[in-house]
This record gives sequence, C-alpha cells and structure tokens, in this order.
Amino acid sequence: MSDMILFGAFPYVAVALLISVGIYRYCVDRYSWSSQSSQFLESRVLFWGSVPWHYAILIILMAHFLAFLFPSGWGVLLGRPIRLYLLEVTGLGLGISTLIALALLIFRRVLNARVSVVTTIVDWLVLAALLLQVATGVYIAFTLRWGSVWYLHTATPWLWSLVKFDPQVQYLAALPAVVKLHAFNAFLILAIFPFSRLVHVVSVPLSYLSRPYQVVVWYRERRAG
Ligand code: HEM
Repeated sequence: MSDMILFGAFPYVAVALLISVGIYRYCVDRYSWSSQSSQFLESRVLFWGSVPWHYAILIILMAHFLAFLFPSGWGVLLGRPIRLYLLEVTGLGLGISTLIALALLIFRRVLNARVSVVTTIVDWLVLAALLLQVATGVYIAFTLRWGSVWYLHTATPWLWSLVKFDPQVQYLAALPAVVKLHAFNAFLILAIFPFSRLVHVVSVPLSYLSRPYQVVVWYRERRAG
C-alpha cells in the first residue's frame, strides 16, 4: 500500500504541482522566474562549485533519460563488458564530482555571511534534497553493482508505466530501500521545483545564441553628421 502511495500516486502529485504552480508563477510573478544569482556577493567558490555541478549533473541526467527513452539501444551499448566498465566508471567519476561541487555550494551558503543572508528556507530545502539525491545515487553506484543495467529492468518499466497512467509499482517493490529513497526523492525535487529558484532550469536563454553580441540603445538623439 505504501509503495502504491509513494511510487504510484505521489509522482502524479509532483508533476501536477510542477505544471500548475509553474504556470501560475510564470503568469503572476514572472520576474521571480530566475536563478537569483548571488555571483555579485561571492564569485570564486561559486565558480568552482557551480561549473562542475552543472556539467556533471546534466550528463548524469542525460544518461538517466537515455536509458528511459531508448532502453534497447542502451542495452546494446552496455552489451560489451568494456563499454559497461567505461560507462560505470565515468558515471561514478561524474557522481563524485556532483557531490564535491554541491558540498562546496552548500558550505559557501553556510560560511559566507553575505550569501547566507539571502538564502531562504526553500533554498535550504532544495540543497538538502539535491544532496540526498546525489549521495544516494553515488551510494547506489558504489554498492549495488551494474545499476546502469538493472535500471533498464526496474526503473525504465516503472517510469513508462507512470507515463501510461498505469502505475506498476512492483518493478520497484523488491529493490533496496536506498533505491526507493532515490526514486521518491527525484519526484520530491520535481514537487519543490516550481516553488524554488530551480525554475531557472527551464529558462535557458537560447535567444542569446542568435542575438547580436552587443545591443547599443541610444539614450538621446544622435547629432546629425
Ligand atoms: C532528479 C532526478 C535524479 C537525479 C538528480 C539523479 C542523480 C543521480 C546521481 C548523481 C547518480 C550517481 C551516478 C553515478 O555515480 O554513477 C545516480 C545514480 C543512479 N540513479 Fe539517479 N537521479 C535521479 C533520478 C533517478 C530515478 C527516478 C531513478 C529510478 C529509480 C534513478 C536511478 C538511479 C540508479 C539505478 C543509479 C545507479 C546508476 C549506476 O550504478 O551506474 N535515478 N542518480
């Protein structure tokens, strides 16, 4: 029963919150839709935390998505031991990088008084949830060998069953508690997402790629000649 609530019902609550609160916030308070950068307050530690964090977590999330979207291709990719080892070692390296980078970002908010003062309760909640997510992920990769393979036979069919509105929680039922925590916390992060500065994830400024490098707007009329 509790599995059904946690893995069969809660994911829909999380996605419903994500979409409804996200749209509401965008319409009602558009200027809050940002990462609310604290770079002006402190930039050195931010650089060493933020850059590795973003590169590593994006690659890890991409791997999660590829195994979900293209399970047979992913299975073929991992069909040779050498490719499996390479992928697992790379994943572990990236996972450890996310952990170190996130620890730096958290210490920066704790230790730097100017940054600490602009950190809200929701920010702490997001940081705690992200820390739990990457710590359990790295723990799983370390202790429950070949997660990239068994993910295909557990997480992938469970996630697809959610997409098809026919939750099959038995795919997760027999997995160790730490995997269940990792899966539940992923949806908790989605539920917190629209209330936090995580919304910046879906406001990538793609137009910056094509706009002129510099836009000069004349404040007064230019003199003739
Ligand atoms: C917010 C979404 C998620 C984030 C940020 C996240 C993050 C991570 C991280 C950082 C790792 C460690 C990678 C490594 O060291 O190899 C990991 C591993 C893992 N994650 Fe997630 N995860 C998310 C969602 C999920 C979901 C929904 C599942 C489904 C149950 C899942 C299943 C796994 C598994 C099985 C591993 C171990 C992979 C291996 O051993 O190579 N993750 N995750």
